[in-house]
Amino acid sequence: MASKRFNTFKVVLASLAVVAVGYVVRTPWLPIRREIKASLGYPKDSLLNFTELTAEYGYMSEEHEVVTDDGYILTMFRIVQARNCHQKKRSPPVLLVHGLLQSSDSFIDSGPNAGLAYLISDACYDLWLGNVRGNYYSRGHIRLDPDKDSEYWKFYIDEIGYYDIPAMIDHVLEHTGFDKLNYIGFSQGSGTFLVMCSERPGYCEKVQLLIGLAPAARQFNTKSKLFRAVTQAFEVLEGQLESYGVVEIFAKGSISQEFVAFFCQLSDLTEQLCEQVLDVFDYVHSSHLGSITNETTRNLYGHFPAGTSLHNMARYGQSMKSRRFEKFNYGKEKNLMLYGSEEPPKYNLSAVTAPLVCIYGSNDGLVDTKDVEWLVKKLPNVIESMKVEDPNWNHMDVTYSQYTSDTIFPKINEYLLKYTSD
Ligand SMILES: *[C@@H]1O[C@H](CO)[C@@H](O)[C@H](O)[C@H]1NC(C)=O
Ligand SMILES: *[C@@H]1O[C@H](CO)[C@@H](O)[C@H](O)[C@H]1NC(C)=O
Ligand SMILES: *[C@@H]1O[C@H](CO)[C@@H](O)[C@H](O)[C@H]1NC(C)=O
Repeated sequence: MASKRFNTFKVVLASLAVVAVGYVVRTPWLPIRREIKASLGYPKDSLLNFTELTAEYGYMSEEHEVVTDDGYILTMFRIVQARNCHQKKRSPPVLLVHGLLQSSDSFIDSGPNAGLAYLISDACYDLWLGNVRGNYYSRGHIRLDPDKDSEYWKFYIDEIGYYDIPAMIDHVLEHTGFDKLNYIGFSQGSGTFLVMCSERPGYCEKVQLLIGLAPAARQFNTKSKLFRAVTQAFEVLEGQLESYGVVEIFAKGSISQEFVAFFCQLSDLTEQLCEQVLDVFDYVHSSHLGSITNETTRNLYGHFPAGTSLHNMARYGQSMKSRRFEKFNYGKEKNLMLYGSEEPPKYNLSAVTAPLVCIYGSNDGLVDTKDVEWLVKKLPNVIESMKVEDPNWNHMDVTYSQYTSDTIFPKINEYLLKYTSD
């Protein structure tokens, strides 16, 4: 049994290596036109963008453009009318930010009864969704062309935390006239928030409540062999890939993304395989099959992976080797020049003054329980830390499980209500 599992793992790893190469290649004939996909029988939801997909289910959303201090153009969405909210919107506004390789669509791919964006806006909160630099909604810059200028892709979680999160918070506050908001970050969406609190004094005070869903800070104990293998491969090959002009990774519209999206909707069998791949990625030893419905699996590969920079992926490979939550490690010499010390400085977790509610799973292969518990001990203002009761709850479940309304939403709602003024 053990050896069979090991062999399966090797086969999956080899296939993924091939797929990974395809993820960095874009060709002029991609992405495939939507009409062609529709005629090939792709599920409709997988072809729609955020505003279209929410409209499909009776929700009305707006699109907002935000420009960061360093010129990146980001797209945010705001759900202005929810299907099941018939009273006045609650305040303050809520900002929900996705994880690595995701977009705002991750919060709607599991449909109106499970997608967190739907559940939160149905409870009448004024919900805004962010998209960070490099994903398909936020692939713009006032000066740089992401298709031509490799400089565009020179970013890590450090820049996302320093520029994108503050810019999105400012936009929401300016637009709504509030001076504080409630923030929910999934995985990298929380990690980048911590970076902001450490590096941009004052910004943490603009947040009344921070809900960290599987918050990714330190990654020392990450169990997913596949995630480790992939990110560390990128770390090793970073210089070489960059010299070949490969700087954007796992983009929508790349050969592999198109292939995977095609393959995953092809038949019941392939669709099940795709669900298993998600599980292997998350945690190879015990999967949580059945938590993500077949329909969600078909839809989500139309929006996932959503793209990031080669450097950011490699950065995760670097983080997994460190016991600290620290700034980017350039190597001794450059560290000394930039930081004045051979080791990169730690992010200042004492500066995360916003009250934190942490929600995490015991079977999370990407952000390990031990690392979450390490983080919670370091943060000065933790009001509750909740381990999801279901022992199989894993990383992908946060966005794609059909059970979110019973497992994590009640706790999210409890605290949003507490930190709501009307
Ligand atoms: C989403 O689709 C609508 C309708 O086709 C389009 O007007 C809008 O520009 C799209 N938004 C984004 C961010 O792609
Ligand atoms: C998904 O489809 C397969 C094959 O048709 C079926 O056996 C399985 O029960 C379905 N899973 C769920 C969660 O509906
Ligand atoms: C970390 O943040 C705390 C709280 O803002 C501050 O008192 C402390 O001086 C900071 N530490 C460093 C090393 O900057």
